[in-house]
Amino acid sequence: MRAAPVLIALLLSVYPFAGSASETPLERGTYLVRAIVACGNCHTPQGPDGPVAGQELAGQLVIDFPEFTAYAPNITSDPVSGIGNWTDEQIIAAIREGIRPDGTIIGPPMPIDLYRGMSDEDVRAIVAYLRTVAPVRNEVPKSVYRIPLPPSWGPPVGTVATPSREDKVAYGAYLAGPLGHCVECHSTFVNGVPDTKGHLGAGGNRFEGPWGISVSANITPHADGIGHYSDADLRTIFKTGARPDGTPIMPPMGTAYYRNMTDADIDALIAYLRSLPPLPSPAGD
Ligand code: HEC
Ligand code: HEC
Repeated sequence: MRAAPVLIALLLSVYPFAGSASETPLERGTYLVRAIVACGNCHTPQGPDGPVAGQELAGQLVIDFPEFTAYAPNITSDPVSGIGNWTDEQIIAAIREGIRPDGTIIGPPMPIDLYRGMSDEDVRAIVAYLRTVAPVRNEVPKSVYRIPLPPSWGPPVGTVATPSREDKVAYGAYLAGPLGHCVECHSTFVNGVPDTKGHLGAGGNRFEGPWGISVSANITPHADGIGHYSDADLRTIFKTGARPDGTPIMPPMGTAYYRNMTDADIDALIAYLRSLPPLPSPAGD
């Protein structure tokens, strides 16, 4: 734990150059998990003031839906209650394929469908970071699924390259999908599953928790969505976790993490959101 603040301070100083050739896998992984990827948004216990100090990635209850009661496990390096004994390859298989070392399948809301598109380089960087997270002994109950889980999330992922940052829209799509799973919460659920084809980014999903009830926003360029925001407004939203009129953006939007994004990543995300087909919000919202 002691090394972490130093590391973060170091990282902050290199943020403007994130993505440059001088970035080590650990620096990249630290940035990803602390910003756009936000594993802690599910895996770190949250109190009224956000993520609980000293409990990073130690596990918590995520969500109680009619379909399941899912507990995000302890993914600290604790060898007993965490994943300290797993090999790098086993952790990568868990993240991208949804398969544990004992062969069992990892269920929702862990966004395996999207994590399948995470590049080899980035998933390895995330593992490098996970190795540095302080071990916390915390046994988390097993999730209960009242729906059948698929036998697998698809064929072996194989090799995935990181998209070029030169193409802002394509890189933004990578940020909003495989890395940040924005499109999971923000695409309207049809039969309990985000419809990323017909309702990509149209929002309207209800999330209940200690914060009350929040409804995911329409993030397409439609007037119901981000059409009325300037790029500067959107930067304010990501940087401060509040709208330009000052209203805070409620969980489970991972504002505590997204504010650590680099300006370049925020700009790529905005370019991608502006490129989406404009869709009205679903009826009833
Ligand atoms: C939207 C919430 C969510 C996010 C984001 C998320 N996870 Fe998970 N994760 C879960 C849940 C819930 C489970 C347990 C599912 C089950 O019980 O089958 C899980 C399971 C796991 C497991 C299996 C652990 C075990 O002991 O069974 C690992 C490893 C893991 N996640 C790593 C990660 C990493 C690394 C990230 C970030 C790249 C991440 N998760 C992001 C919700 C999430
Ligand atoms: C775990 C679910 C979840 C994830 C992941 C998520 N969001 Fe959100 N987002 C929400 C919810 C819920 C709201 C509405 C909160 C409120 O009304 O206070 C929201 C609000 C927003 C808003 C404010 C829109 C408005 O009309 O004021 C924007 C913009 C946004 N999200 C973009 C994103 C982007 C980009 C990402 C990925 C980096 C993302 N979200 C990831 C759930 C999520």
